[in-house]
Amino acid sequence: MKQIYIHPLPVRIWHWINALGFLVLIASGLQIRYLEIAEVVSFKTAVDVHNWIGFVLIANYFLWLGFYMFTDKITVYLPEMNSEKYFKDSWRQIKFYGYEIFLGKVNPHHPTPYHKFNPLQIMMYQIVMLLFVPIQFLSGLFLWDVKQFAFWVDLLGGIRIVDTIHVVMFIVFSGFLVMHLYLITLGHTRFAHIKAMLTGYEEVDDGGKHAQPSEKK
Ligand code: HEM
Repeated sequence: MKQIYIHPLPVRIWHWINALGFLVLIASGLQIRYLEIAEVVSFKTAVDVHNWIGFVLIANYFLWLGFYMFTDKITVYLPEMNSEKYFKDSWRQIKFYGYEIFLGKVNPHHPTPYHKFNPLQIMMYQIVMLLFVPIQFLSGLFLWDVKQFAFWVDLLGGIRIVDTIHVVMFIVFSGFLVMHLYLITLGHTRFAHIKAMLTGYEEVDDGGKHAQPSEKK
């Protein structure tokens, strides 16, 4: 096994602030919506926390966006341009997640610092970060001050529509989180990907090059 530096510091800082913030947003959002079922904190506290964390995460988003826009690491989010190879690699990955993993086969994608994601991760993370997250932040911003953003709220069809978009995205994110939390346990050990997102370094198979002579097969 050798170590490769796969998650640069700004990505790790963004990611853990984002992950923690999302959990607080989900909890405070549920409290705002279901106050009548259980009042863990007051309505005002839940709204204040939700708004503050929302703004922190909007600012934090630009750390992620800025990092990828202004460094050569943007390559990790660029899909393969050869469409035949792209579909072949995606299908290979679907087969792996679908059943090969249960047969004990190894992940066919071998990450490098400039191509750390497999084609399915690229697609999923692009949709989440470039579509879902901005939709959620913007709809939240419009609901935060409907008067100031009256033009946009009216354009979208009124408060009910904006609110529905915000709630539907909440459901989407909750689903994404369940899937994300399962997929991140599929490294070569249960916690390998989580460790990598904490330290920056991922352990990858180097075909036994770094093994002691006695360990080589
Ligand atoms: C407790 C919650 C979470 C945990 C434990 C977690 C864990 C991880 C881990 C271990 C990775 C690296 C695996 C990989 O490379 O695919 C990762 C990557 C990623 N996660 Fe999460 N995550 C959490 C919540 C979230 C949330 C809420 C979002 C978005 C809304 C998110 C978005 C992402 C993205 C976009 C990446 C790729 C980052 C990059 O390298 O550019 N995660 N996550």
